[in-house]
Amino acid sequence: MKRIAVIPGDGIGIDVTRESMRVLRRVNDVFSARLEFVEFDWGAEKYLKEGIALPPGAFEMFRKDFDAILFGAVGDPRVPDQRHAAEILLALRFGLDLYANVRPVRLFDEKLCPLKGVRVEDVNFTVVRENTEGAYVNSGGVFKKGTDDEVATQVEIHTRKGVDRIIEYAFEYALRYGKTKLCMSDKSNVMGYAGDLWQRSFKEIAVHYPEIETSHLYIDALCLLMVRQPKDFQVIVTNNMFGDIVTDLAAALQGGLGMAASGNIRPDAVSLFEPVHGSSPPLAGKNIANPMGSILTAAMMLEHLELNDAARTVENAVIACVKEGKTTQDIGGTLGTREVGEAVLAKL
Ligand SMILES: NC(=O)c1ccc[n+]([C@@H]2O[C@H](COP(=O)([O-])OP(=O)(O)OC[C@H]3O[C@@H](n4cnc5c(N)ncnc54)[C@H](O)[C@@H]3O)[C@@H](O)[C@H]2O)c1
Repeated sequence: MKRIAVIPGDGIGIDVTRESMRVLRRVNDVFSARLEFVEFDWGAEKYLKEGIALPPGAFEMFRKDFDAILFGAVGDPRVPDQRHAAEILLALRFGLDLYANVRPVRLFDEKLCPLKGVRVEDVNFTVVRENTEGAYVNSGGVFKKGTDDEVATQVEIHTRKGVDRIIEYAFEYALRYGKTKLCMSDKSNVMGYAGDLWQRSFKEIAVHYPEIETSHLYIDALCLLMVRQPKDFQVIVTNNMFGDIVTDLAAALQGGLGMAASGNIRPDAVSLFEPVHGSSPPLAGKNIANPMGSILTAAMMLEHLELNDAARTVENAVIACVKEGKTTQDIGGTLGTREVGEAVLAKL
């Protein structure tokens, strides 16, 4: 038996998680997967009512009692500083030390890609984003706030341990998935201190993986080439902020944010799986959000739980629906969120 914590969160996080949960319940029936689900109502509503974002003891509970977490999205205009979102999602990533944010980028049908002349096999790479350091540690300060002399600092943190482990993870990921190329991307030409650490770590670790061809690109060049030559990429490893930004660009290649899945992974420990998109308040509750990113995320979680047949079957069901045009409007279809969920279920 595997215990799954389900946190739909806010906005369309709730709409799309409902569909991936229907798919996972069907997986239980078809594959005798013995997944057990416990849902948590953490999000803006609870925060506004009770002042609680992440209840005390949450990390310990997840570590002890759960095998994985399926997450929707957080973000609500009623909480202008999005404090609850940081206290839930960033806290879980940091608190559970989920250091590898793995974002596969795959095109399932040429018509989903905004670029001319791109074939499905041209867009098939994974971004491995460092998930616990960099700009997102929110270190810094402000001085003379509100005056003409105001000073704000935002400090990035890169540790040898943190950089080494994400680069090692990316090499191991490449090996596991039969990939032969790994590109490291940074901005070491202008961010010399952190850049130097990333460069040395990458070169030193690469020595242990002679079968993987390595390359390096500055992040701006990576953006250019990702659009011009997406087929050049197999696995990309980069820091927290660059990985966050570049995977929105990458999502555009595969049909938009509604198609993008991700895992926040710590090998051999409880890991958290979430679609790349946010809570998209204007779409919430209207049966228009694309649930495929969340369903593909559920497939990633199944693979992490070593339910590989179930994972492939769910992924193939989504691919079949895309090819038949059984999709939401964001990728050219006419169906609603629930109807896409039903179309995927029908393929299982
Ligand atoms: N992981 C997370 O929980 C996460 C990630 C990003 C943003 N956010 C939060 O979400 C809120 C909205 O942020 P945003 O608008 O910048 O990002 P967003 O991802 O919610 O939306 C960006 C754009 O993509 C579209 N989109 C996203 N997901 C879609 C889907 N499943 N189907 C169809 N269209 C989809 C939206 O309509 C919008 O046009 C903010 O509060 C933000 O802080 C949360």
